[in-house]
Amino acid sequence: MKLAIVIMAGGKGTRLKSKRAKVLHEIGGKPLLRHVIDSARQIVPPSDIYVVIGYQAAAVEAAVKDTGVRFVCQEEQRGTGHAVQTSQQAVRDYDELLVLSGDVPLLKPETIARLRDFHIEQRAAMTVLTAAPADPTGYGRVLRRSPGAPEVKAIVEQKALTPDQQSVREINSGIYAFRTQPLFANIAALKTDNAHGEYYLTDMAGLLTAAGERVVALEAANPVEVLGANTIAEMMDLDRELRLDTARRLMAQGVTILRPETTVIDAAVEVGPDTVIEPFVQLLGETKIGEDCRVRSYTIIDSSTLADGVLVLQGCQISHSHVGARARVGPFTNIRPESDIGEGTHVGNFVEMKKAKLGKGSKANHLSYLGDAEIGSGVNIGAGTITCNYDGVNKYPTVIGDGVFIGSDSALVAPISIGEGSYIAAGSTITEDVPENALALGRARQTIKPDWAKNRKAKISKS
Ligand code: UD1
Ligand code: CA
Repeated sequence: MKLAIVIMAGGKGTRLKSKRAKVLHEIGGKPLLRHVIDSARQIVPPSDIYVVIGYQAAAVEAAVKDTGVRFVCQEEQRGTGHAVQTSQQAVRDYDELLVLSGDVPLLKPETIARLRDFHIEQRAAMTVLTAAPADPTGYGRVLRRSPGAPEVKAIVEQKALTPDQQSVREINSGIYAFRTQPLFANIAALKTDNAHGEYYLTDMAGLLTAAGERVVALEAANPVEVLGANTIAEMMDLDRELRLDTARRLMAQGVTILRPETTVIDAAVEVGPDTVIEPFVQLLGETKIGEDCRVRSYTIIDSSTLADGVLVLQGCQISHSHVGARARVGPFTNIRPESDIGEGTHVGNFVEMKKAKLGKGSKANHLSYLGDAEIGSGVNIGAGTITCNYDGVNKYPTVIGDGVFIGSDSALVAPISIGEGSYIAAGSTITEDVPENALALGRARQTIKPDWAKNRKAKISKS
């Protein structure tokens, strides 16, 4: 039996009121379509997955191309029935087709497999995955031949429901299985005499039944899995479901998450046991956090790794960087990409780092900019130290050896290197390399004018 999966992802998503194609909108840090493809790939290899693209086809294709799926272009989007019809050339040699919607992202692979097995076992021409959510409004409704029987008579869209059909609570999830032959033998009979003037795939239920084919329904165990995302509000409901799932998974592994409903944690994030995540923290991308860490409120960590025992105080941003064991970062620290903060270091308030490496035990406690810098171990960076790495055209490196002491408010004009064990006097502007174990001063000598202020005051009071 040859099986393919068709994913309908060509629509614009008018109800979103967005410039971006619906399937590119993200929940749980991942586009809707990628969620669907990731589930589909658990069932068939990507070369048997056909994504129907149309609206913003190039952008949609680019966003998921790396998964290895195939694409079918639906030039004009004339409805879900038309989307599947467009795939006919590409998939006609498969025996059976599973049709998924690009905007039903929480569907689990186990449910897809259950639909496939039920469809084969029932020897059906069409099997509809259904659910009975608390509020069925907006969904197509599934009319069974008789209550509890697997056979389906028809699927009726919300706008076409007759008054007595309003009470039907079983909804069409937009997920189906078809036997290829009867599907394509009858699909040309779809009509556009409906509220949207479109070819509805849902009408295949009535068409196939009328043609004497078997059409059945399978109810999903968990209605949440088949919720669609047609509006931003619906999408954010799904986002919350996904992220709560992630938070629950982490808590089951020994992570304490205070007020998990306030955190934004992407699905791929990993956190070690005995770590505490405070309210209103965001952990994004492929972030990995070790054991015994604490991340205080309002911190955003994106695609970064934190070793064990790290303390991140409130209001920090850490992006594409590494923080070593037992380091202390923050509050209000901005760690920009490609930074590497060593073991046992302190990076304090209003310190910005970019492509900067800070060696073991070094400290930059207050108000600094460290960019394109390689800083050794046991270094003290005084308050207000700036690496002047940019001349308006190019960027230059700063190298600071082990055990260096940089006095407060120093400007290090790159390219520059400060030798091991040296001291830079506070308030210096350093433009030339400093050898090891030296003292460098780069500031005007102080002069004192005795009684200057007293004399000035006397002069003013006289005039
Ligand atoms: C559809 C079903 C409805 C069901 C609901 C479940 C139809 C007519 N209705 O409604 O019974 O309850 O899903 O979520 O099918 N698409 C294309 N090309 C098109 C039109 C749509 O690829 O020409 C894609 C969309 O990008 C989307 C999917 O098909 O991913 C579903 O389309 P959508 O317009 O959202 O259908 P619903 O109105 O939600
Ligand atoms: Ca939809």
